[in-house]
Amino acid sequence: MLASQFAAIRLVHITCVAMSGSLFCLRGILRIASIPTAHHWLLRLASHVIDTALLLAAILLTLILHQYPFTDAWLTTKVLLLVLYIVLGTIALKRARTVFGHVVAFVFALLTFAYIIGVAITHHPAGWLTLPRSGLGQLRQTCHPAQLSRLSGRARYRHCP
Ligand code: HEM
Repeated sequence: MLASQFAAIRLVHITCVAMSGSLFCLRGILRIASIPTAHHWLLRLASHVIDTALLLAAILLTLILHQYPFTDAWLTTKVLLLVLYIVLGTIALKRARTVFGHVVAFVFALLTFAYIIGVAITHHPAGWLTLPRSGLGQLRQTCHPAQLSRLSGRARYRHCP
C-alpha cells in the first residue's frame, strides 16, 4: 500500500530537497550581504515546514525500502552529513561572528549538501567519489521492487537485478 506511493513520496522528498537547498542559498546570500530579510519569520517558517516534510518523506522512503540509518551505510552517512549540514547552516546563518566566518560556513554547508545528494543517488557512502571508479552505468547494485516501477527513463544509469 505504502510501497505503491514510492514514486510520489520520492518526488516530495526530492522537491523538498530542491526547495530547502534554494532557500538556504537565498538566506545565506542575504546573511552574507547583511540584509535582515535573511531572518524574516516567513523565510524561517518556510524553512521549518520544508525541512519537516523532507524528513517525513525520508522516513517513509526508508520504511518502503526496508533500508535504515545505522543499518545501511549510505543512510547512516546521510544522517551524519545532515547533522553536519545543520551545524554548518546554523553557523552560516547565525553563529559566525565575521562575514568571513559566514562565507566559509556557507560554502562548506553547500558542499555538504551536494555530497548528501551524491550519497542519495549512488546509494554509497563515498557518493560522487564512486563515479570515477564505477561510472554512471554501475551506480546501484540493488533495486527495490518499488523502484522498478519508475525505472523507464532512468534505467540507463540504474543497475537493478
Ligand atoms: C537523513 C535524512 C534522510 C534520509 C533518511 C533519506 C532517505 C532517502 C531515501 C530512502 C531515498 C530513496 C532512494 C531511492 O530512490 O532509492 C532518498 C532519495 C533521495 N534523497 Fe534523501 N534522505 C535524507 C535526507 C536527504 C537530504 C538532506 C538530501 C539532500 C541534501 C537528500 C537527497 C535525496 C535525493 C536527491 C534523492 C533521490 C536519489 C535518487 O533516487 O536518484 N536526502 N533519500
